[in-house]
Amino acid sequence: TERVLTGITTTGTPHLGNYVGAIRPAIEASRAPGVESFFFLADYHALIKCDDPDRIERSRLELAATWLAAGLDPQRVYFFRQSDLPETPELTWLLTCVTAKGQMNRAHAYKAATDANEAAGEDIDAGITMGLYSYPILMAADILLFNAHRVPVGRDQVQHIEMARDIAQRFNHLFGKGHELFVLPQAEIDEELATLPGLDGRKMSKSYDNTIPLFEGGARALKDAIARIVTDSRLPGEPKDPDSSHLVTIHDAFATMEQRAAFRADLRAGLAWGEAKERLVRLIESHIGPMRERYADLMAHPERIEDTLQEGARKARKIAGPFLAQLRQAVGLRPMT
Ligand code: TYM
Repeated sequence: TERVLTGITTTGTPHLGNYVGAIRPAIEASRAPGVESFFFLADYHALIKCDDPDRIERSRLELAATWLAAGLDPQRVYFFRQSDLPETPELTWLLTCVTAKGQMNRAHAYKAATDANEAAGEDIDAGITMGLYSYPILMAADILLFNAHRVPVGRDQVQHIEMARDIAQRFNHLFGKGHELFVLPQAEIDEELATLPGLDGRKMSKSYDNTIPLFEGGARALKDAIARIVTDSRLPGEPKDPDSSHLVTIHDAFATMEQRAAFRADLRAGLAWGEAKERLVRLIESHIGPMRERYADLMAHPERIEDTLQEGARKARKIAGPFLAQLRQAVGLRPMT
């Protein structure tokens, strides 16, 4: 069997980028025969960027309901909260001890933070925690703990998965004694959808505050957000250039080939941006409207979600526990008693 694994950080409300880049492809992959899937709520990762416990709790609930409403079947898939697995931080430490510091210096998130500090004339490490610095090691532990072969993600995560491969290779080399302890994971990205743009055309991201919510706020919030997508100032009747519009990219993420062609042709023929936005709302709504009803139902029953997550953690630990015992032995630690 092949193992597919992915996680989402619990710091905000799930948005269309999460859905298109990770949730939808992951659920599709999980339905293929011969695949074992591991999907989780990355709440240890959330602590790196967020010190508001209520927000983490709320985000965790929204995210769990989102996965389930989008079609994840907890009977077929290992679905859990990262922080319910004590094996993850323990493996993180084993990996930390074999990870080159220089490699972490090159991680995008850390580099972006030091670059910003430098530009502002501050000490390069001002305000940067060890959590942010070693973020990719925690993520490597998530992936390697289950020996995942494939990791469906958006483009912004590819570097982290390459780092996980490097760390796995180094660990295998040091402790594998000729056989591979870790599978080398592969990022799986859909070239076309790997970076969904947000309202302003930059990558849709919680940190840019340019997201379109997936379910929260109902159809109204979807409509309001889409109304705020930035377009050029061409008037109704004037021909538009579909290839330079991020509104079209968002449309493509939900459209069939025929719908894409028709939308482009109509824009070239002068379709008003306002009407284009209405069509976009209808298109997305036709996909996610039915899911939103399931979402609302799930959100009204947090105790069911809690049961599902606890059961998921129990199942996942049956795999993680024995594997970690093997890894402890490989590095020279004694078995836990
Ligand atoms: P996070 O929470 O930032 O994003 C979750 C997933 O959504 C994808 N994504 C996008 N895809 C396309 N277009 C966008 N605009 C967009 N915005 C977000 C991300 O690429 C990601 O796949 N560190 C990870 C969570 C994580 C993880 C893991 C992922 C923790 N452990 C192990 C995979 C495997 C993160 O913060 O993703």
